[in-house]
Amino acid sequence: MASVLLTGVAGFIGSHVAEQLLAHGWRVRGIDALTENYDPRIKVRNLDLFAGDPAFTFVRDDLVTADLSPLLDGVDAVVHLAAEPGVSRSWGEQFPMYVHRNVLATHRLLEAATAAAVPRFVYASSSSVYGPTSDAMRESSRLAPLSPYGVSKLAGECLVASYAHERGLSTVALRFFSVYGPRQRPDMALHRFIEALLDGGEAVVYGDDVQMRDFTYVTDVAEAVSAALTAPVPTGTVLNIAHGTPVSVPDLLRMAEKEVGRELPVSREPHRAGDTARTHGDTTAAAELLGWRATTDLRTGIARQVAWHRSLREPTATAPLAVPARVGRRPR
Ligand SMILES: NC(=O)c1ccc[n+]([C@@H]2O[C@H](COP(=O)([O-])OP(=O)(O)OC[C@H]3O[C@@H](n4cnc5c(N)ncnc54)[C@H](O)[C@@H]3O)[C@@H](O)[C@H]2O)c1
Repeated sequence: MASVLLTGVAGFIGSHVAEQLLAHGWRVRGIDALTENYDPRIKVRNLDLFAGDPAFTFVRDDLVTADLSPLLDGVDAVVHLAAEPGVSRSWGEQFPMYVHRNVLATHRLLEAATAAAVPRFVYASSSSVYGPTSDAMRESSRLAPLSPYGVSKLAGECLVASYAHERGLSTVALRFFSVYGPRQRPDMALHRFIEALLDGGEAVVYGDDVQMRDFTYVTDVAEAVSAALTAPVPTGTVLNIAHGTPVSVPDLLRMAEKEVGRELPVSREPHRAGDTARTHGDTTAAAELLGWRATTDLRTGIARQVAWHRSLREPTATAPLAVPARVGRRPR
C-alpha cells in the first residue's frame, strides 16, 4: 500500500483529500497544527470523519518545528496543503505569520522531502498568484499577486520550482481557484451566505464592482490532487485547477438563495485590499497532463454545501470535541 504525507489534513481541502486518498487505497500520514485561523474544534470534527480508518495516522504539529524525517520515512509522496489562507487578513502585522506558515513551512518541508528522496511532491498554490486580467488565466499568464497572501503562495511556488530544477525533487504545483463545498472555511463567501440564509442575517458584499470568481468544487480539487500524485509529468509542472466558468458573486448569492428558499438583504462594504476583480482558470494543461477536468456544476455543488450546513443543525450532529494533545495522538 503506497503512503503519503498530507499536510493541512484537518483543514477544509485537506480533509477531502484525505477521504479521497484513503478511498483510493493510500495509507495517509496527516499532519496539522490545528491553527486558529478558525475554530480548531471544527478541524477536529473534520478529522473525526476518518480518524478511525486503520490506514490513517495523525500528528498535531507545526511544520516549521516538527521532526519531519520520521514522518517522511518511506513515504511515496507529499501533498502540501498546510498554509495560512485568506487574502484580506494578510496585510499589516499578520504578514510574519503568513511567512511562517506559507514560506518557512514550505521551505522546511522541501528540504526534508529532498533529503528523504520522496518520489513526488504536490504543492497547493492559488489563483492569487496571478495579476489582474480580463482574459482566462493560463499558467504562462503574468504573475503579480495583489495581496501579501498571494505573495506568500507565490514564494512557496518559487521554492518548489527551485527544488524541482536544482535539487531533483519531482514536483507538481496546483493553482486552486475559489474552492467551495461541505466543510468550507467559515471566512469564505459562500459559507457566510448560507449561514446567514439559514440563521437570518445579511450578505456582506465588498466593493462597488461586480466580482467574478471561478468556483471549483472541493471533491473535483481532491481528484486533481490524487491524479497529480502519480501522473507522469515533468518535474516543476504547474497547473490551474479550476472549473473554468467564472460566475459573479451576486449570481452565487442568488443560486444559494434559490437552494435555501429565501432571500437575503445585501449590505455593501468598501473594497477589500487584495481582492481581484475576476478569476477564470484555463484548465487545458490539467486536462492534457492529468487527464483531469472539473465535473461538478455550481448548482449541484451549492446544493451539497447547503445540505452540509443543514446537517450541522440536526439534533444528531455531535458537538465538536476537545482539541487533542500536541503531538502524535489521534484526535479522539
Ligand atoms: N480554499 C480555497 O479556495 C483555496 C484556494 C486557493 C488555494 N488554497 C490553498 O489550499 C490549501 C488549503 O486551504 P484550505 O482552504 O483548506 O485552508 P484551511 O485553513 O482549512 O486548511 C489549512 C490547514 O493547514 C494547517 N496549518 C497551517 N499552518 C501549518 C503549519 N505551519 N504546520 C502544520 N499545519 C498548518 C491549519 O491548521 C489548517 O488546518 C492552502 O495551501 C491554501 O493556500 C485554498
